[in-house]
Amino acid sequence: MSDPRLASLTAAVPGLHLKTAPDDLAFYGRDWTRRWTPAPLAIALPDSVAQVKAVMAWAHANGVAVVPSGGRTGLSGGAVAANGELVLSLERMNKVIEFDRVDRLMTVQAGMALEALHNVAAEHGLIYPVDFAARGSCTIGGNIATNAGGIRVIRYGNTREWIAGLKVVTVSGELLELNRGLVKNSSGYDLRQLMIASEGTLGVIVEATVKLTDPPPPTNVMLLALPSFEVLMEVFAAFRERLQLEAFEFFTDLALKHTTAHGALNPFAEVYPYYVVTEYAAGDEAAEAAAMAAFEHCAGQGWVLDGVISTSVEQAQQIWRLREGITEAVARYTPYKNDVAVRISRMPAFLARCQSLIGGAYPHFEVVWFGHIGDGNLHINVLKPDGLGQDEFVAQCEQVTKLLAQVLAEFDGSISAEHGIGLVKKPYLSSTRSPVEIALMQSVKRALDPQGLLNPGKLFD
Ligand code: FAD
Ligand code: MLT
Ligand code: ZN
Repeated sequence: MSDPRLASLTAAVPGLHLKTAPDDLAFYGRDWTRRWTPAPLAIALPDSVAQVKAVMAWAHANGVAVVPSGGRTGLSGGAVAANGELVLSLERMNKVIEFDRVDRLMTVQAGMALEALHNVAAEHGLIYPVDFAARGSCTIGGNIATNAGGIRVIRYGNTREWIAGLKVVTVSGELLELNRGLVKNSSGYDLRQLMIASEGTLGVIVEATVKLTDPPPPTNVMLLALPSFEVLMEVFAAFRERLQLEAFEFFTDLALKHTTAHGALNPFAEVYPYYVVTEYAAGDEAAEAAAMAAFEHCAGQGWVLDGVISTSVEQAQQIWRLREGITEAVARYTPYKNDVAVRISRMPAFLARCQSLIGGAYPHFEVVWFGHIGDGNLHINVLKPDGLGQDEFVAQCEQVTKLLAQVLAEFDGSISAEHGIGLVKKPYLSSTRSPVEIALMQSVKRALDPQGLLNPGKLFD
């Protein structure tokens, strides 16, 4: 603990857990992007709201920058600490505070893992429906700070829909109690919503009161094989018309190549160019018949070439692994990730434009396409070839992203559907937000954090 500021911090916050070992600095200073070299001052691991308040009061008084940190599964560099910041990890604050059966609300500390929240909700016969593959490691605080989406947005919406209250510590160490679980509250600006997707730049989320709901009826999972990109939205429309969809996700043969190499099982004997995983309510015969009707309609049109319906929970999980395993399967190629969105109705035209842009742009790179197509959200991952330096690779990808950002602006789309802006998408914020909007966001930032100490350099400069 050579930096004299750390002695002052431990004196100001008695009992605070602090980590300064080089391995810890490297581990807590980065997220899944692996693009920046971690270089934090230290890692503070408070175990109470009182300690978070004291850490922030100390940082404020001493002009020390702070990076709020959850599970560091982020894909936009939001939790990266590469400039001597103090990482404020919420990992020790991971407990349930309260469950209210009448309100159907659960209050938890922000460092709780998403999967742990799923499990405690299930103990009460309810669900917290935000869900995605990082569930075991990402935290509720991180989900809120990024307004995380995932595989069930089509049915339940983003994280934003499920937050009934927040406790947030301000940059100077004061505690805000926002909305307090109210259903109705028209008493001025909704600061709770302002904190959602603020990426740690406006305050430290310490507790969240989340809404819970009934579990869905029994569901089936279907894997579909498609001949072309062009029919994707036709298949989506046919299924959405006939079924209560819980999920509708797509990926390409290249994605399947990587997930199967990573242990997922392909139920088809043949390889097809495109795939859809859809989960739908299938509690009765009418729903089963509707699913068959949707499949047969699509097959009759030539939009679907093959299909498999899960007949057991295990098989459903195996099908999901083909889709959910993509991020981990391609991680070793340090992919350049695009996370773009347009209105669903504009998806067919947008897909065509993306294909002609991206198709020719990366002749020497593998490009893996997948995403939450039923939400208008496309993930385009460019894989770094072995042997090409990371800086050169990113520089080449950025040239294409500049063009993609222009297309997005034309389509009134978003450069970040669900991962956040962080460091990765900062140069492209203006493709999605107008100059006036960005100036207003900067004013909000200055009002809440005049010295720019909370997650500096993220979202915008
Ligand atoms: P971190 O990465 O630690 O932080 C993310 C941001 O939130 C940072 O800006 C950080 O400063 C801020 N932050 C964290 N905690 C707090 C807090 N308590 N108070 C204030 N700010 C805070 N994302 C999706 O939306 N949909 C997906 O389908 C999806 N799938 C994924 C699959 C995999 C395998 C992986 C690795 C990631 C996936 N992600 C997905 C991205 C990531 O999991 C989400 O962005 C998640 O919400 C990040 O949570 P975290 O706790 O890891 O946050
Ligand atoms: C996903 O949809 O699988 C996630 O957003 C993760 C990713 O884009 O890699
Ligand atoms: Zn996603």
